[in-house]
Amino acid sequence: MVNVALIGGAGFIGSNLARFLTSCEGYKIKSYDLNDNKLRLRFENEEYSFKRLDVRDSTSELDRVVAEADVVVNLAAHVRPGVFLLKPLEVVDLNFFSSIPTIESCVRHKKFLLHFSTCEVYGKTGGSFEPFREDETDCILGPVANHRWIYSSAKQLLDRIIHAYGLADALDYVIVRPFNVVGPLMDDVVPHWSREDNPRVLANFMSALIYNRPIQLVNGGHSRRCFTYIEDAVSALELLIRRRHEVSRQIVNIGNPANETTIADLAKRLIRIYRTHCDPAVDVRIEEISSDEFYGPGYEDCDRRIPNISKLKRLGWVPRYDLDQTFTRCAIYFYENRKRLESLLQQAAQ
Ligand code: UGA
Repeated sequence: MVNVALIGGAGFIGSNLARFLTSCEGYKIKSYDLNDNKLRLRFENEEYSFKRLDVRDSTSELDRVVAEADVVVNLAAHVRPGVFLLKPLEVVDLNFFSSIPTIESCVRHKKFLLHFSTCEVYGKTGGSFEPFREDETDCILGPVANHRWIYSSAKQLLDRIIHAYGLADALDYVIVRPFNVVGPLMDDVVPHWSREDNPRVLANFMSALIYNRPIQLVNGGHSRRCFTYIEDAVSALELLIRRRHEVSRQIVNIGNPANETTIADLAKRLIRIYRTHCDPAVDVRIEEISSDEFYGPGYEDCDRRIPNISKLKRLGWVPRYDLDQTFTRCAIYFYENRKRLESLLQQAAQ
């Protein structure tokens, strides 16, 4: 039995991963987070193990959690660009400083660490459209004045610290870089858009469709993303945990390079899918909005990011869900669960 501790494990990826690992043989899962609202929805009436833990002020409790685990998964992070722009210091506090005790506990207790990095570490393309490779691609970020990159910088430094522990032969780990994973329980559906509650693109477009408000295309929606369905992502994560000794001390991209699209195309596809599977009468406008208006100053976009997934392919993993399958599953889940997702938002606000 492999004891897996999910730190920050009740968010979008964590709650879906906990559910998936629980359905596989050979794992005992414990999730630690500020609340278990999303776990409750994901597990429905099934049992799960959860303990409240705030990584920002629970160092000794965290150390005990790490000591009891075989594999420690570090998911605690702010992940929405809206937060990077509004609260850059909170991003550094949670994503960087609060990750250090988890890493150091893994070193102290010789535990395997699965650490969540991000595709955002690669930054911008610099004009080359080669898929990003974990060990070869440069990380190209904009100036400090564009503080959107604070998240990427914090995550990049963590990757380098973990790598350095590996060089010192003090830590076994795998660093994962997910590429725009979408699915049930990602971010919140927000009835009224505001900069404070600003979900990532899929959740914001779904909110627009559900609450009948315009879909907002930032700077025309020309940027490109490769969207990855959550079920593909969690199957990759399980594979990496199961075969961790083969991927030890490596960085691994998780994404679907075949699922590339522009944000403008995402808007049109989602409207079509929503009309077909959810509400035939839906009629929302698509409107353009500047990044200054949407995020405030300091924003700069990743123009395009495609994962090279050779490492995962060598382990036998291939993504299964294409763009339409991915967005159809998302649309149906968001639509059918809109009332429950709304109450989730209210609980989080309390
Ligand atoms: C985000 C975060 O940086 C990371 O936490 C994370 O690693 C990554 O997503 C991911 O999901 O893997 P980004 O893709 O820029 O990065 O986040 P989104 O908010 O989903 O934006 C995607 C694109 O849509 C951007 O070009 C953005 O300007 C645009 N957008 C967003 C809109 O046009 N309208 C919206 O309502 C929201």
